[in-house]
Amino acid sequence: EVYGPRRRNSAGLDLSVRADRARLEASVVVLDAVTLSAGPLIDGKVVAGGAPLPVIAPANDRKVVGAVSEAQAPQIDEAFRLARAAQPAWDQAGGPARAQVLRAMADALETNIDRLIAILAREAGKTLSDGIAEVREAVDFCRYYATLAEDQFGEAQVLKGPVGETNSLRLAGRGVFVCISPWNFPLAIFTGQIAAALAAGNAVLAKPAEQTPLIASEAVKLYHAAGLDPRLLALLPGRGETVGAALVAHEGLDGVAFTGGTDTAWRINQTLAARQGPIVPFIAETGGLNGMFVDTTAQREQVIDDVIVSAFGSAGQRCSALRLLFLPEDTADHIIDGLKGAMDALVLGDPAKAVTDVGPVIDAEAKEALVAHQARLAKDAKILHALAAPAGGTFFAPVLAEIPSADFLEREVFGPILHVVRYKPERLEQVAGALAARRYGLTLGVHSRIERFAADVQRLVPAGNAYVNRSMTGAVVGVQPFGGEGLSGTGPKAGGPHALLRFAVERAVSVNI
Ligand code: SER
Repeated sequence: EVYGPRRRNSAGLDLSVRADRARLEASVVVLDAVTLSAGPLIDGKVVAGGAPLPVIAPANDRKVVGAVSEAQAPQIDEAFRLARAAQPAWDQAGGPARAQVLRAMADALETNIDRLIAILAREAGKTLSDGIAEVREAVDFCRYYATLAEDQFGEAQVLKGPVGETNSLRLAGRGVFVCISPWNFPLAIFTGQIAAALAAGNAVLAKPAEQTPLIASEAVKLYHAAGLDPRLLALLPGRGETVGAALVAHEGLDGVAFTGGTDTAWRINQTLAARQGPIVPFIAETGGLNGMFVDTTAQREQVIDDVIVSAFGSAGQRCSALRLLFLPEDTADHIIDGLKGAMDALVLGDPAKAVTDVGPVIDAEAKEALVAHQARLAKDAKILHALAAPAGGTFFAPVLAEIPSADFLEREVFGPILHVVRYKPERLEQVAGALAARRYGLTLGVHSRIERFAADVQRLVPAGNAYVNRSMTGAVVGVQPFGGEGLSGTGPKAGGPHALLRFAVERAVSVNI
């Protein structure tokens, strides 16, 4: 039986439709005329936090998109207090009532799609097509989790037991969740984590990535406008070292949902492990060192298309993005030639223009790390092809390099650098084993007409999401439940049928009648 809750994914907008394209480009122009601001949002009100800091557009270092002020310690305490007070009624209202609020949020996101995409383009440097996909994903998370809330948090499940006794099991919210989200999906993951925690009956304190507080502030305001008691969702912007650290060390939390780097996940895990109070769940989605394995039966043009999208789409700033392409010796040169040609056809530049394929990377620090990695590749490996970056922002142009094996890469390199490894088919086990030994486990690609090859690769390189004969990014809610294992995260998978379970406690009741 095919599992699919009763709902449809969002249709979004279509950039090939002239009217949609023109409207989106115009909405960026409208946004450019104003300066946004974000600060701590507690009980539905923006309160004064730390001294405002400018938010600069990644695509243009002279463009100030807005300002953000960081949450302060007493504000964090206050947000915990309000959330704690409001959460029991929200939990007791039940899944169906919570689903209504989440569906209203989904509708509100769709109503505001143009403005949201404009903010994503300016604040996060997202291309318009990535912005469309991002709003769609946020909408889908809300509707998907609404359905799960109805299905899993409605009536208690009656269990078989001895005669003379009724036994039942139900799920309930845990209390107050801290949700910490990344800048690469500053709307979809931000909104989705909150939707999951709320759907399960929790209150949420949300800390967006320090680079993207403006879009997060919009999302929180939409949640409140959708009918959510504002005490149930506070926005606490700021840096990980300050606000993030204070949140995860707070005695008032009942769970943490985090998406971001593996190093930060380790730190949060250590903080939670040192707690003396209740033992709380930690849900982490982190990075990947994602490989795609091609064999000699693969269809060359399809490989080229899928590699370009998977490695350079979103400027390589997806945790799912392709980092290592394994090519069989016999066809490697032919595929590499095709990849160079396809790279040359990429349009780099202003993400707010519909023609742009690759926008900037998020900030100067990200760019410096990529520049340093490129220098290492030039010195210790081989650059096969590199494009030229536009000036004026934190642009880093796609690079294709060849490395001897996965051993060359210790860790994830986050951006549009693709590493090719040539392999002899008879050495597949060793070659794939070197990748698996890195202990990440997020996405995996295979291009082959031979089922046995695809199965072997999946056995050799465990991954949360495997994609065969297609691109390997852009998991769709309810269709490709997303998330990895090992260094890539804890699960449960976002946008999958089990997503809410770790946000909940289970309570069994036995009644002797
Ligand atoms: N969920 C995204 C994807 O599948 C990555 O974060 O590309």
